[in-house]
Amino acid sequence: MRFRVRPARALHGEAEVPGDKSVSHRAALLGALAEGVSEVQGYLEAEDCLRTLTAVQALGAEVTRKGPGHYRIAGGGLRGLSEPGDVIDCGNSGTAARLLCGVLAGQPFWTLMTGDASMRRRPMGRIADPLRKMGATLVGRAEGTRLPLAIRGTATPKAMEYATPVASAQIKSAVLLAGLGADGPVTVIEPAPSRDHSERILRRFGARVTTDERAVTLTPGPLRATTVTVPGDISSAAFLLVAGLIVGDAQVTLHRVGVNPTRTGVLDVLQAMGARIATTRAADEGEPTASLTAASTALRATEIGGARLIPRLIDEVPILAVAAAVASGVTVVRDATELRVKESDRIAAIGRELGKLGVPIEERPDGMAITGGHRLRGAVLNSGGDHRMAMALAVAALVADGESVVDDVECVNTSFPQFTKTINDLAGSPVITVEA
Ligand code: S3P
Repeated sequence: MRFRVRPARALHGEAEVPGDKSVSHRAALLGALAEGVSEVQGYLEAEDCLRTLTAVQALGAEVTRKGPGHYRIAGGGLRGLSEPGDVIDCGNSGTAARLLCGVLAGQPFWTLMTGDASMRRRPMGRIADPLRKMGATLVGRAEGTRLPLAIRGTATPKAMEYATPVASAQIKSAVLLAGLGADGPVTVIEPAPSRDHSERILRRFGARVTTDERAVTLTPGPLRATTVTVPGDISSAAFLLVAGLIVGDAQVTLHRVGVNPTRTGVLDVLQAMGARIATTRAADEGEPTASLTAASTALRATEIGGARLIPRLIDEVPILAVAAAVASGVTVVRDATELRVKESDRIAAIGRELGKLGVPIEERPDGMAITGGHRLRGAVLNSGGDHRMAMALAVAALVADGESVVDDVECVNTSFPQFTKTINDLAGSPVITVEA
């Protein structure tokens, strides 16, 4: 599948963004581990999160769809899951694979787990190491550091204090989930804070979680079923916000966007680039939300780096690179080596693909330098199977001279299936068409 993208003259209106991917995965997993029936609204019905729902069903949880994004999940408690009869396929989803390993480290049975070609290349040793220390057995390719993996948990994982070398919510969450049934508290110490959705939703399900500047501690205990309202995903909103800033005649308002401070680095950077993003805070249901409005602005270059900022915007670097490509001056991204192990090597992919649009980019080991301000010229681009690259390139093509093609775009369905419809509705005409 490919996108054919025509330049957009204008983007106007209001849009809803799909449910937050991180929160949706966690709601499914905790619903399955809790005692009783949990009710989830706003669940992200995109491939990644549907994989997690299928996985918890394979492990014995009962999942009922009540309407769009509305699910009832009947969990059997921490000891209520059972050995799945077949391999669990996590598709393209690192969060599904890594958080599931955390859950399974506390289950005394074997599970076989795999993923798609991209996922089978991504590192799993980062979660396998701490989970082994807690008593789980993980074996698989590349000395047990790549999918497919087989995992056998233990009914009582060992209490542990774990200092993770990378600020990663997936590592932190895997250890916390394994800790729910542990024989004592588990503590995760991070080099810098990562997104805190797990801590928030664990508390909502009745878990005892305490945090200080760099450490999170979970005291084992049962989870009780609850209701969860998933906010809109700021990582999806980011594509629409940047489109609203760089298209010549634009004003775009997005409602109910999650603005958890561990995720809003993209707003800070866009503000540093000269954007005024009007924010109206809405009621807080465990995760803060807001309406965000972006309008056409002349952007200027900035610096994107630092151990505390990068984890707050790691998924937004592809679309921030597009903003940098049209901004005046040189934007430098540093301290972002993690980009190399996402759905694709995003440092290489951004350099390669924005280069085709005529953007001078210098690739560096931990980031890039992007010289902005040149007119972009339409080109034939390729997402490399990475959903965030596909959407970032489509937004860049909206402001290029002439038509562009973005190849390999099925991947957009992993996180934002309504992406093209949302952009076309805002444009008032089909600026992005999907071709088989
Ligand atoms: C996620 C954490 C981040 C992020 C990913 C979702 C999560 O990964 O890139 O898209 O839901 O915990 P890392 O934890 O590996 O940084």
